[in-house]
Amino acid sequence: MYNFGRQLLIMAHIGIFYGSSHGHVENIAQELQLLFGIENADIINIRDANKQDLESYNYLIFGCSTRDKGKIQEDWEFKFNLLSEINFRGKKIALFSLGDQRHYPESFVDGMGILYDKLNENDVKIIGNWYPYGYIFKKSKAFKHGSFVGLALDEQFQHSVTKDRLQKWTDYLKSQFNISAN
Ligand SMILES: Cc1cc2nc3c(=O)[nH]c(=O)nc-3n(C[C@H](O)[C@H](O)[C@H](O)COP(=O)(O)O)c2cc1C
Repeated sequence: MYNFGRQLLIMAHIGIFYGSSHGHVENIAQELQLLFGIENADIINIRDANKQDLESYNYLIFGCSTRDKGKIQEDWEFKFNLLSEINFRGKKIALFSLGDQRHYPESFVDGMGILYDKLNENDVKIIGNWYPYGYIFKKSKAFKHGSFVGLALDEQFQHSVTKDRLQKWTDYLKSQFNISAN
């Protein structure tokens, strides 16, 4: 909460930061904002984000995609040095990622695993892991100790279940982010 003279500005609790090459991750970021409530969540393109933006929120959601068979979406990659500078102590971070398990079964949502590993170089609390039921893939850097490190979505081939996955994931995160469920 900031006090600008007589004006009191109450910031949203949650910062949804996304990197998106062709708008698919951005669309999901917007759906997440609606599910949490516009008053509770801001959306920021990681391409435009600075240190202060990232440090402004206690609850963070980071969304990415995977490109070039196993590389993280480039806007995130460009911000890796910035991520190293952020003090994440006391914050909760959840990850989501879009991928394509049919065309890239050997690197499904690898970008999310790369982001997870990068964040873990820092002192972070990552929540919102997701069980791998209903997916068909061979390998993923985002699959660790029997679950995905965040929500994995496949808009190319499993669009029909995205809504249900988003609802379940946000229901869980609301309890973690101190937002009452509707
Ligand atoms: C050239 C190319 C390479 C890709 N490589 C992967 C990959 O290795 N693993 C994966 O899960 N998805 C891969 N994808 C799928 C994208 O991650 C997916 O389409 C995603 O929805 C893109 O979101 P965006 O347009 O918001 O960045 C690839 C897509 C393209 C076009």
